[in-house]
Amino acid sequence: MIRDTAALPNEEDVCLQESVDSKAILRIIESHNGELGGLIAILEEIQAEYGYLPEKSLRIVSDKTGCSMVDVYGVATFYRSFSLKPRGKHLILVCLGTACHVRGAPRVIEEFERQLGIKAGQTTEDKEFTLDTVNCLGACALGPVVVIDGHYFSKVRKSRVSQLLEGAQNGFGKLQIEKDKRIFPLHVSCPHCNRSLNDETFTIDGQPSIRVTISSDHKQGWLRLSCLYGSYNFASEFDVSTETAVSFLCPHCGVEFTSTLDCSVCAAPMVPMLVDGGGIVQICSRRGCKNHMLDLI
Ligand code: FES
Repeated sequence: MIRDTAALPNEEDVCLQESVDSKAILRIIESHNGELGGLIAILEEIQAEYGYLPEKSLRIVSDKTGCSMVDVYGVATFYRSFSLKPRGKHLILVCLGTACHVRGAPRVIEEFERQLGIKAGQTTEDKEFTLDTVNCLGACALGPVVVIDGHYFSKVRKSRVSQLLEGAQNGFGKLQIEKDKRIFPLHVSCPHCNRSLNDETFTIDGQPSIRVTISSDHKQGWLRLSCLYGSYNFASEFDVSTETAVSFLCPHCGVEFTSTLDCSVCAAPMVPMLVDGGGIVQICSRRGCKNHMLDLI
């Protein structure tokens, strides 16, 4: 087989002594046959199984899906959530972008390094934690930002590090979401100008809707979403066809809501909004995809 080796990782970047259950990989591939964003979903499941993407599994994916190895590696290396090297059960990302840096991120990462006994880019010996850095997560006003297992934490101070490590091991994400009384309804604001997006003049589900401006196919108009977390009811000034990804803009300042995060289901860009009281809600920008994330602080 001829490979474009220039696009593939160095040997030291992959684990060559891999034990991969080929039948399990084939089952994963078959379960996503023909799905929108199928390759990403397949790689996510393999990573969930092994904690990383073994090279052998990528070869099977390439053979069975018809995607070239270059394409498979392209996806595996493009998304930060994928790893070609074994990593810990919990992934900690500390933002070292300019805004987070000046707000004290270096002290936060030093504290993680001290408590875990590793340096950024390394995994603890017990394979519990991998610590890494990122350049900007698109939530600069809330820095320093730390993401643990996909959950965002804002304005993190070094005094909070031990609590975050404990929370990761106890599965803080699920506990917070189930117990937190602030979840219904959500009051949100623009991540750029901080003005409220809740609109009392237009209700959905009996609550003030969340008003944003959407842009698609050279058209621009309002979109109102239910502010009840878990409700997908909405009203729109113009129709958007299913599976179309649209741009979301603030109706006050006109700036687009952008995120460095792509949807883990369909790979469309996620749309971040600030939750009053602290936190970020992110929804998928593709019509019909219900993927969303809520992180309360
Ligand atoms: S610099 Fe950290 S979120 Fe932008």
